[in-house]
Amino acid sequence: MDAVDVIVTKRDGRELSTGQIDWVVDAYTRGVVADEQMSALAMAILLNGMNRGEIADWTQAMIRSGSRMDWSGLPGRTTDKHSTGGVGDKITLPLAPLVAACGGYVPQLSGRGLGHTGGTLDKLESIPGWRASLSGAEMLGVLGETGAVICAAGEGLAPADRKLYALRDVTGTVESIPLIASSIMSKKIAEGTGALVLDVKVGSGAFMKTVERARELATTMVELGTDAGVRTVALLTAMDRPLGRTVGNALEVAESVEVLAGGGPSDVVELTLRLANEMLQAAGIDGDPERALRDGSAMDVWRRMITAQGGDPDAPLPVAAETLEVTAPASGVLTSLDAYGVGLAAWRLGAGRARKEDPVSFGAGVVLHAALGETVRRGQPLMTLHADDASRFERALAALDGAYVIDGDDAGALPLVIDRI
Ligand code: URA
Repeated sequence: MDAVDVIVTKRDGRELSTGQIDWVVDAYTRGVVADEQMSALAMAILLNGMNRGEIADWTQAMIRSGSRMDWSGLPGRTTDKHSTGGVGDKITLPLAPLVAACGGYVPQLSGRGLGHTGGTLDKLESIPGWRASLSGAEMLGVLGETGAVICAAGEGLAPADRKLYALRDVTGTVESIPLIASSIMSKKIAEGTGALVLDVKVGSGAFMKTVERARELATTMVELGTDAGVRTVALLTAMDRPLGRTVGNALEVAESVEVLAGGGPSDVVELTLRLANEMLQAAGIDGDPERALRDGSAMDVWRRMITAQGGDPDAPLPVAAETLEVTAPASGVLTSLDAYGVGLAAWRLGAGRARKEDPVSFGAGVVLHAALGETVRRGQPLMTLHADDASRFERALAALDGAYVIDGDDAGALPLVIDRI
């Protein structure tokens, strides 16, 4: 087989055979197909698409590039959630212990933030002592003992995707539905979960800017999961504004703990409960997440889960050295609070990273004092910016220019849960 033949097939809009896909994914993982050849192929896929059979073959080839995890030794059913990423999306933190408290086993392999979207591992690493890297045996130990584990994927899980995703990131080929769907689902299928709920975000702060594109991505992923024997459902949820009242690592951990303590912002609580019910239902587990929040059992699992990974759930969280208050320029209804603008501001404050190897500032971020649709008074605090270094405020304020509108055209925010697939 020859890489140029495979590239030309897709460049000319023809279907790739199973043999071509198996060969090119394997040869790329082994370094036989060069980065420049794979980037040409990724661009041809982005421009000409792939049909359902090609996407399924591509996903299976990426799964076969590494090992699959096996949880059959656990005494209960596994169920997981994956979000396509957004601003202030801390849902995994309260959700995993909540589902575990209801009888599910949650093997949650998570990622780090890149660009304006946050990453679950960065958030949890703001807890003193907490460790993201676990061996397979340690992961099984934490999962068996507490019912939930949140950690980094090992090197052996879909290595083809690891290599290809880094290449797509620098070649303008991330925004392809077949490539995103196969990337996410190869990792989730290899992770070995029995049931999976996909939270596909829609809006300015998400990969998918429109409901139509999000629906297409969700449908593709649900088909891939179902074909692979994973009971898979997807929710399309709003990411036109940030989720909750905090954006930034330690700030989001504190908000998640509030939710586990029975408080927290209503949108975070509503989405956490909805996703918990979906995860339990997909796994065929009869549980009551509302009660598990109320009676403290979800909080108990959280504390055990954090402790099992070296963290101290009682330790004070890092706090940024500098703060700056942003006040409402006028009185009226907050008609727009743009997720991308707020995410970009948090990133510039130090909560996110520009390159994979950059450190993040755990205390940096944005605390929102008003939610979309609320009435504010002129001069009232709208948000507080947190940074380790006051020189970051100027660029963060520039990111917020136009990101909030008072008494503007109320074009209608997206409902929190837009659709279920
Ligand atoms: N997340 C992934 O894991 N892969 C993509 O392609 C996009 C988002």
